[in-house]
Amino acid sequence: MILSIESSCDDSSIAITRIRDAKLLFHKKISQEIDHSQYGGVVPELAARLHAIALPNILEETKKYFKDLKAVAVTNEPGLSVTLVEGVCMAKALSLSLDIPLLPINHLKGHIYSLFIDKPEVQFPLGVLLVSGGHTQVLHVKSYDEIEVLATTLDDSFGESFDKVAKMLGLGYPGGPVVEKSALSGDATKFDFTVPLLRTPKLAFSYSGLKNQVRLAIEENPEAKNDICASFQNVATKHLIHKLKKILQTNSFKNFAIVGGASANKYLRSEIEKLCQTDKMQLLVADMQFCSDNAAMIGRCAIDAYRLKRFAKLDEIDVNPRTNF
Ligand code: KG4
Ligand code: ZN
Repeated sequence: MILSIESSCDDSSIAITRIRDAKLLFHKKISQEIDHSQYGGVVPELAARLHAIALPNILEETKKYFKDLKAVAVTNEPGLSVTLVEGVCMAKALSLSLDIPLLPINHLKGHIYSLFIDKPEVQFPLGVLLVSGGHTQVLHVKSYDEIEVLATTLDDSFGESFDKVAKMLGLGYPGGPVVEKSALSGDATKFDFTVPLLRTPKLAFSYSGLKNQVRLAIEENPEAKNDICASFQNVATKHLIHKLKKILQTNSFKNFAIVGGASANKYLRSEIEKLCQTDKMQLLVADMQFCSDNAAMIGRCAIDAYRLKRFAKLDEIDVNPRTNF
C-alpha cells in the first residue's frame, strides 16, 4: 500500500491506496474553506498552521495500515510553499521512521490521475482541460512522463476568476460553487461581457480583462448579483470552448477529460459534453468528490510513480511552489 499526503493549498488530506489494483482503502480530507472565507482567499500562514493540526489527526486514523506500507507519497509541487512544507515534513518523518521510500508527486499530475482513482488501468493518450484555482491549461497527456502543454493562461486562472468575482460581490470563498449557484437564478444575457482573446489566433487564455468588466458592471448595478454571475460564467466558459475548438482543429483525441477543482462546474461540464459529442470524443470526468484537491488522486498517481521507481532521497526532495509541466 501507499500512504499519500496532500497539503498544497487549503485542504489537508491523507489516503491509503493498494498498489496491486489501485483500490482506495482510506481517504480523509479536512477543508479550511470556512477559515479562509472571511478573507476572500487563502491566507498561506493560516493554512500552514491548520495543516499542522489536521494532518497528524488524520494520520492517527491510518496507523493500522503502517505495517503494509511500501512507500509514502507527497505533493511537493506546485502550491503554496509554506503549506507544501507541512506535507513534505510529515512524509519525510514517515519515510525515516517506517523505513519506506519517498515518492514526490506533482499536484497537477495528481489532478489528471483523479480520473483513475479506484481503477487499475489508466487511459492514455488523453486530451485534458485542467481548470483549478492556480491553472487553466489544455494538455496532451501521452504517458506519466510525456505531457505537452497546448495552451495556458496569460494571467488569472478560470477558478481564480470565479473566486475574484465572488469576492467583489461579497459572496465568500471559494467562489466557484457560490457563483455557479447564484448564476442558476440569473439571466446570462443581461450583461454583454466581451469574450477574451476572441480576435487573436493565440492559443491562450486570459481572465483578468473579464474580471475588470465584471468589476465595472458591479459598480453600476450592485443589485444584479445573479445576472452578473450568470453572464460572467457564460462568457468565462465561452472563452474556454472557443480556444478549445481551435486546439481541436490541429489535435485529435479519442478521449478528452476535464480535471481540477473547477471541473465540478455543471455548466462547464455540459458545454464540454456538447463539444465532445460534436468531435466524437469520449468525455472522462472525475467523481465529483475528487475534483477538488485530495490525497486520493496523489495516491493513484503515486502507484505509477512507484512502478516507475521514481523514489527520492530524503535530502533530494524539496518544495517547488511554481513548477509546471
Ligand atoms: O483544484 P482545486 O481544488 O485547487 C487548486 O489546485 O487550485 O481548485 C480550486 C478552484 C477554486 O478557484 C474554486 O473556486 C474553483 O476551483 N471551483 C469552481 C467550482 N468549484 C470549485 N469553479 C467554478 N465552478 C465551480 N463549481
Ligand atoms: Zn488542485
